Amino acid sequence: MSARSAIIVVENLTKDYASGWLAHRRHRAVDRLTLEVKEGEIFGLLGPNGAGKTTTIKLLLRLIRPTSGTVRLFGRLPEDRLVRAQLGFLPEHPYLPEALTARELLDYFGRLFGLSRSDRSARVALVLHQVGIPASVADRPLRQLSRGELARVGFAQALLHNPKLLILDDPFGGLDPEGRRQVRDWLLRWREEGKTIFLSTPLVAEAEIICDRVALLHRGRLLACGSPAELAPPTAQGAVEILARDLAPQTRESLRARGCDVRADRTLVRICAPASAEGWEAVDFIRRSGGHVIAVNPLRSPLERFFEDAVTASGASPA
Ligand SMILES: Nc1ncnc2c1ncn2[C@@H]1O[C@H](COP(=O)(O)OP(=O)(O)O)[C@@H](O)[C@H]1O
Ligand SMILES: [Mg+2]
Repeated sequence: MSARSAIIVVENLTKDYASGWLAHRRHRAVDRLTLEVKEGEIFGLLGPNGAGKTTTIKLLLRLIRPTSGTVRLFGRLPEDRLVRAQLGFLPEHPYLPEALTARELLDYFGRLFGLSRSDRSARVALVLHQVGIPASVADRPLRQLSRGELARVGFAQALLHNPKLLILDDPFGGLDPEGRRQVRDWLLRWREEGKTIFLSTPLVAEAEIICDRVALLHRGRLLACGSPAELAPPTAQGAVEILARDLAPQTRESLRARGCDVRADRTLVRICAPASAEGWEAVDFIRRSGGHVIAVNPLRSPLERFFEDAVTASGASPA
């Protein structure tokens, strides 16, 4: 295996925020975080709201100063101009001036990056195409765009100068399942193109699908780091939710007797089967009894279960 270079190196990074009356108290948002992101990988920083993900990203970009510890991007300080030129950033809540059109906004960012007029118009057209914004949408003021379209503009802005490293704070935030699937497809394509991607998300199951490696953050501390398969091999079967129709009353009773939680409304029955093989046996049982299975969903993905166990083992209750 070829040794790929480390694009992001974080050592012992700590951030205390001042809080309370006259800022006399300190709140430790990031606590001695150490991690490395290799060239060409999709790396996910995972954790519930308040875990310290956005703070970590602001520290990576030197938007705020660390209390202690170091950050290196491409082997340099994050504020280095050479670093900035290779870095695309999607903030958690992008600020988009709503009187401008997407094309005008991107052109403005292109000027900030020092692109010539012709390069700008070519790059802007290309990134708009990459994120699926047609000309009819690109030339309307941003205030007339839907939330999904605005999210696309945010991605277009991060991609504009064709950076080698993308830092994306909560790229799935506010998107519906189809939007999230689309973002996953983009990220995989950009990795194929050789980009390195660092993203944060509270959605463990989304990250599990696409990330090469993840770091699990809880109350500012790193609980675990590794590939989803290393951390949580998808072998053991977890609890599943089954949606079914046409279940006879005695079938429901038998499922309850097997330890399933069964809730019915007029048309649908929702069955939560416990962990282990039970869930899939319940599916077979429903079918044999003449019921129709509409959907089977894992209630927790392997990585979600691993994360919960890691939180419990760390002695802290889940946030
Ligand atoms: N500017 C700030 N001043 C004080 N506390 C902050 C500030 N920003 C974030 N925090 C606190 O730091 C913790 C981590 O926040 P954040 O990094 O935004 O978490 P996440 O992005 O994982 O949801 C939270 O408890 C939050 O309230
Ligand atoms: Mg955040």
